[in-house]
Order: sequence, then structure tokens, then C-alpha cells
Amino acid sequence: MKKDLIFIIGSSGHAKVIIDIVEKEGKYEIAGLIDSYKNKGEETLGYKIIGTEKDLPQLLASFPGASIIIAIGDNWIRHLVKEKITAIAPELKFASTIHPSAQIAKNVKIGKGVVIMAGAIVNSESTIGDFTIINTKAAIDHDGTMMRFSSLAPGVTAGGNVTIGEFSAISIGASIKHNISIGNHAVIGAGSIVLNNCNNNVIMYGVPAKEIRNREVGERYL
Ligand SMILES: CC(C)(COP(=O)(O)OP(=O)(O)OC[C@H]1O[C@@H](n2cnc3c(N)ncnc32)[C@H](O)[C@@H]1OP(=O)(O)O)[C@@H](O)C(=O)NCCC(=O)NCCS
Repeated sequence: MKKDLIFIIGSSGHAKVIIDIVEKEGKYEIAGLIDSYKNKGEETLGYKIIGTEKDLPQLLASFPGASIIIAIGDNWIRHLVKEKITAIAPELKFASTIHPSAQIAKNVKIGKGVVIMAGAIVNSESTIGDFTIINTKAAIDHDGTMMRFSSLAPGVTAGGNVTIGEFSAISIGASIKHNISIGNHAVIGAGSIVLNNCNNNVIMYGVPAKEIRNREVGERYL
């Protein structure tokens, strides 16, 4: 069966992981990588950079029906790139990709532009919003919600009924108790144990996690 074509925006380490997922999932054929900061013809894992974001209308004309995955790990930058490329090519379709070793339980809703990596677990009746990332071996338990452009770093464990607000990042190895709500634009630091709700626009970390300081929208955390 002929596979649908896909362009990957970005060619960094995160793109390398996404290339592996797309290949293993076997649903899409990668038509090429799009990167505005590298030269055309440079390669990542055997796939060439075939243009910049500005080339998208022409590339879509050459590869009609192709979809896009944005391979950018930072939640706010991924959003800015999504806005930019949608302005350049409003007809863009965004694909989601799920590693075959991920466990997706019953009645899970998964939006567009989502990346779910190897060994991840999304338990029953969870809702995974558009453009979110669930990294390697991260787990969100039953009735969880990830709002748009949020992310779970590798090894995160979120209990049942946890909500992660939009643009919020849960850093590597953090654990979140059941029934906890994390606000929008928040960052939970690496290795934290979160036992209390987290407000909007704050950095929280530690064991148990405490609110450390406020953060601006878009402040770097990676
Ligand atoms: C939360 C985070 C953004 C804080 O970054 P920051 O504000 O730049 O903090 P700094 O690195 O300047 O550290 C400031 C202090 O806080 C401490 N600190 C930072 N993060 C901490 C954490 N998660 N737990 C405990 N202490 C922490 C530092 O040790 C340092 O202490 P010191 O002043 O006694 O030396 C960062 O620690 C983090 O977790 N980033 C995400 C990493 C990640 O998930 N990577 C994988 C992505 S796939």
C-alpha cells in the first residue's frame, strides 16, 4: 500500500527520534526535512534537508497531500513555528505519530501534531491535546488531560486525573500525584515530586515540589 507523505520540520536530536518513530510506525513516508538554519542537501539519519519554511507552498505543490510534523522540542517555539508555517501555507495538514511500543488504552483521544515516543503509556479516557509531546517512557494515567503544546519529558509519571495546562513542560523524571492540576505555561523541574497543584506561569521543583519563581511566556527551559 502506498504510504502518505510527510515533511518533518527540524533536523535536530528531537527530529532524529521522530524519524525513528515514523519509520517504525510505517504509516508515512518521509519526503524530506525542512530546516531554515541548515543548508539544503545536509542529511539527518539518511533524510535530506529539502528546503526552508518559505519553500513550503512549492513543496506542497510538488508533493500534494503531504502532511507535516513539527520536530521542535520547546513548547513555545513549536507553537511559533506552527503559527509561522500556517501563515505561509494555510492548507497544511498536521500528522501525529505514535511509536508502536507505546501503550494507548481505551477511549483515549489524541489530537493533531502529537508525538508519542517509545515505551510511553497513555491510560484509559485520557485526552492528549494538539501538538503535545509524550517522550520516551513517560506515562499519563487514566482520565489525564494534556492541553495543547504541553509536554512530558522522558520518564515522567503522572497519576490518574492529572491535568497539564497548555504550553507547560514536565521535566525529565518528574512524578505528579493523582488529581493534580498543572497550570498553563508552567515548568515542573527535573526529578520533582508534585503533591500540590501548580499555578499558571511558574517554575516549581523539588521533593516535594515547591513554587520557585514566576516565568515569562516563552522563557527557555531546555
Ligand atoms: C526547572 C529548570 C528549567 C530550572 O532551570 P533554571 O531556572 O535555569 O535553574 P538553574 O539551572 O539556574 O538552577 C538554579 C538552582 O536551582 C537548582 N535546581 C534547578 N532545577 C532543579 C530541580 N529540578 N530540582 C532541584 N533543584 C533544582 C539548581 O541546582 C540550582 O541550585 P544552586 O543555586 O544551589 O546551584 C531546569 O532545572 C529543568 O528541569 N529543565 C528541564 C530539563 C529536562 O527536562 N530536560 C529533558 C528534556 S527532553
